Amino acid sequence: MRWSLHNKRLAAFAFLTGMIVTAAGVAATAPVDATRQAELSVLLEQDCGSCHGLTRKGGLGSALLPDNIAHFTDEALIEIILDGVPGTPMPPWRRFLNRAEASWIVDRLRQGTSQ
Ligand code: HEC
Repeated sequence: MRWSLHNKRLAAFAFLTGMIVTAAGVAATAPVDATRQAELSVLLEQDCGSCHGLTRKGGLGSALLPDNIAHFTDEALIEIILDGVPGTPMPPWRRFLNRAEASWIVDRLRQGTSQ
């Protein structure tokens, strides 16, 4: 009897933990809606562009055209955007962007567009 109660508790705990992890996963990968995409386009052009150049050919920050970033994995680019490059002017964007949004930006960098 004690075992089965214990197992039920364990199962409930595992279920709840699974729910929380799943919810966090969904939030992190939820598609970026159209309104947010429009905001991100502006951020990419104006904020990123202020250092990386309006046409991403470089400025204070390195050039970010598709060829320039080809050697990075998507994951590496997402980390750079979220955490910045410590010791350089590249700031972390984690306070403003979630992972899905950083990933959306990476897709635009790969395509060489901002839309
Ligand atoms: C205040 C200036 C500044 C802003 C704003 C800025 N960056 Fe940067 N970024 C830099 C600098 C400087 C580097 C180069 C760091 C180094 O020397 O490794 C860099 C590096 C990077 C890299 C790595 C490229 C490479 O070749 O090493 C990526 C990707 C990047 N930035 C993306 C972005 C994105 C996307 C945004 C906008 C969300 C942004 N940056 C905004 C200054 C900036």
